[in-house]
Amino acid sequence: VGASFTAQVMALQRAFETAQPPSRRLFDDPLAPRFLSAPLRLAAELARLPVVGPVVPAVYDRIWPGPRPSAVARTRLIDDTVRTAVEGGARQLVVLGAGFDSRAWRLPELAGARVVEVDRPDTQAAKRAALGRAGQPLGPVTLLAVDFEHDDLVAAVRGTAFAADQPSLFVWEGVTNYLSPTAVDRTLADVRALSCPGSQLVFTYVHRGVIDGSVHFPEAKRWMGGVAGVGEPWTFGLLPETLGGYLAERGFELVWEVSTAEAGRRYFEPRGRPDRGSDLYRVALARVPCPG
Ligand SMILES: C[S@@+](CC[C@H](N)C(=O)[O-])C[C@H]1O[C@@H](n2cnc3c(N)ncnc32)[C@H](O)[C@@H]1O
Repeated sequence: VGASFTAQVMALQRAFETAQPPSRRLFDDPLAPRFLSAPLRLAAELARLPVVGPVVPAVYDRIWPGPRPSAVARTRLIDDTVRTAVEGGARQLVVLGAGFDSRAWRLPELAGARVVEVDRPDTQAAKRAALGRAGQPLGPVTLLAVDFEHDDLVAAVRGTAFAADQPSLFVWEGVTNYLSPTAVDRTLADVRALSCPGSQLVFTYVHRGVIDGSVHFPEAKRWMGGVAGVGEPWTFGLLPETLGGYLAERGFELVWEVSTAEAGRRYFEPRGRPDRGSDLYRVALARVPCPG
């Protein structure tokens, strides 16, 4: 399969965000450039230069309108969700389809937490090598090579120090749209099996209307063409209006659901930024209900 290119694109977008002035950026991800191949790393370095720096993401957005602001708004929203979950007592984080996510090392709130990262073997090997080159020890992070289409997630996670009877947060960011409906279903059942009441799952999904063509989003065509062009086409979506029922059938309750357009308004506007998220790309928090 090879390492995921879309995971690298996410790291590039986070590197662009990290190059923003501190008063404007939504987060700081100093490891992000370390995961990039030479041409993408060059783009990330250019974005840090005075004067020409801001032109780089602007050009990127002209070529590929939509993904970057949506991605960084979703990352910040999920960072905030992780912080709230830790404040609420979660001491375990499972990052599903982690790609080049660096929360385990960049969020101080996670110091002392147990972190399990799951991805396909090739992407994970690339991450392990990049962390080694960056001199970043794994610390409390366990890397598990699991393919949601074929492998047994429950058995793999149970083989670590993860304790299913303690509250956890599962993060499934930027992944469901690349899976088959069967793999999404199976993974949700596995998360449920690994969760005690009160455990939570924050995940992203794309509006099913872009998958079946029933809803028009202006940014969809080039965005979907881009991911298909790198061999990672979108295959799965959900409908926001039926999400609560979909999750309830799988043993979860929906806590909230927002588009990255809405998240963008929350994060970009107070910083005076013109960036806009997208109505097609969405984030949801689900919880395993407590009895009674
Ligand atoms: C767009 S990237 C997102 C990475 C990361 N979560 C982020 O938001 O930066 C999609 C990730 O899903 C992983 N992925 C896709 N299909 C998978 C599968 N069948 N099993 C495990 N991981 C998968 C890819 O390897 C990749 O790391």
